[in-house]
Amino acid sequence: MYPVWEGLYVHSAMYVAIIATFHVLASHLTVAAAWFNLYIERRAVRENREELYEYLKRSALGLMVFAYVFGAMAGVGIWQSTTAANPRGISTLIHNFVLYWGSEWYMFLIDVIGIIAYYYTLGRVSKQTHLRLAWLLALGGSGTLAIIVGILSFKLTPGAWLVNGLSLAGFFNPTFWPQVLMRFAFMFVITSGWSLIIATGLPRGFFEREKIIRYAGAIGLIGMVVGLGIWFLWYEPTLPAHARSIMSSRAIVPITYPLIITGAVAAVATLTFSYIKPHLQRRWIALTFMILLQAAIFGAERVREVIRKPDIISGYISSNQLLFADLPARGVVREEQRLKQTGMLGNLPFLPPIDQIDVANVNATEAQRQIAVGHVLVVQECGSCHNVSLQTQIRFLDQHLVLRSLADLLVLRQRITATDIDAYIKGIQGFPYMHEMVGTDAERAAMAAYLEDFIKQTYNNQPTVVGQR
Ligand code: HEC
Repeated sequence: MYPVWEGLYVHSAMYVAIIATFHVLASHLTVAAAWFNLYIERRAVRENREELYEYLKRSALGLMVFAYVFGAMAGVGIWQSTTAANPRGISTLIHNFVLYWGSEWYMFLIDVIGIIAYYYTLGRVSKQTHLRLAWLLALGGSGTLAIIVGILSFKLTPGAWLVNGLSLAGFFNPTFWPQVLMRFAFMFVITSGWSLIIATGLPRGFFEREKIIRYAGAIGLIGMVVGLGIWFLWYEPTLPAHARSIMSSRAIVPITYPLIITGAVAAVATLTFSYIKPHLQRRWIALTFMILLQAAIFGAERVREVIRKPDIISGYISSNQLLFADLPARGVVREEQRLKQTGMLGNLPFLPPIDQIDVANVNATEAQRQIAVGHVLVVQECGSCHNVSLQTQIRFLDQHLVLRSLADLLVLRQRITATDIDAYIKGIQGFPYMHEMVGTDAERAAMAAYLEDFIKQTYNNQPTVVGQR
């Protein structure tokens, strides 16, 4: 067990989501743009159309700066934010997939050096040689995509790994193929948005401007139709029943689906328009489309993350980083059972025994001491999915901008005294998106005492907690 980082103003899960969403946009863009540019370049070579190189040059420069530099930095951001938000989840992934990540890194190297070589050799090496570079770029990018999807989809459907503990079984898990192919299709929608931005920047009347806009429209629409087809006919039916039930539960924040649908409608409208009336396409339309697409990706990636709840690796380790299933093949024994007997405090590294929990005020009363103890436990057990302290609330006038605040939820259910809260959280496993609270009755009472105090902090706007971990 590791320390838990709640976040600062913004909840840790939202840090991950914001950084990851941008990374998804940039990384999918680079892969599909490599294929799209390959297609354009092949036409340029075969039909001997010099003008198309002007587009390729602009696209490659833009990709290098926007998608590779910022996209790669966001990739590092994902490592940082996920490690801080859920160290044990990441640790489990690394223990299984370190060599896969290693291979991905090599492919990424091909990608990064590839785009630099691609841009700087345009017009300087023979056309055939340059075309080979375009192939390398497209294949290298697709390799990185496939590897990372194996690891991502493992978290949702670890499949036979739960029995045999073999990393390859976890990698080629039940949702691997549908997810790789679905992403492969949808990434052309992102790339068509990109191509529209680049092509609308070509001088009006430029020979090939309209043609490229039409290609982009057509390829994006095909990607959209194929992607949606895979989603409805293959991916969604492959999801475990539990994931499908979470999809329509309160665990998904209400704004999510409207975001996704708006993005999809904007995509169909913009791409159809590009195909039918390429000469009327404008840069501001392309930019607006990209922004809406980014919002839709945010929604879609959130859904992907949330339907795995309450686990970080489905069926094995929960979001609050407790192992709840045995994995005999790897000699792993679950710990929830044991912790229910012994209690949490003092029985996990980084969770001090009860008498070592810091209470800032030495004259603290017994009640204040209990609140401080409860604070430690609530952060540990509930903080990965809920706002549990003022640290991750943004206040604006009378509003708090928070992720599933426990203060708000308990007030909504009118559980505001420690006794009522205690009784309520004793049964939280009744909700499909939560595991039962782990620990002794005394620990649960301390958590309830803290939550009562937290409600007061939230609504009276002042911290009353006497100690920090
Ligand atoms: C895996 C993520 C996760 C963890 C960990 C988690 N919860 Fe939740 N909890 C949720 C979700 C999702 C909801 C639904 C939020 C909503 O209704 O807006 C929820 C709702 C609740 C509610 C309101 C239920 C209702 O609708 O009446 C309470 C109370 C609650 N959680 C308490 C806790 C407590 C206490 C802990 C720690 C022991 C905890 N949760 C840990 C995900 C989690």
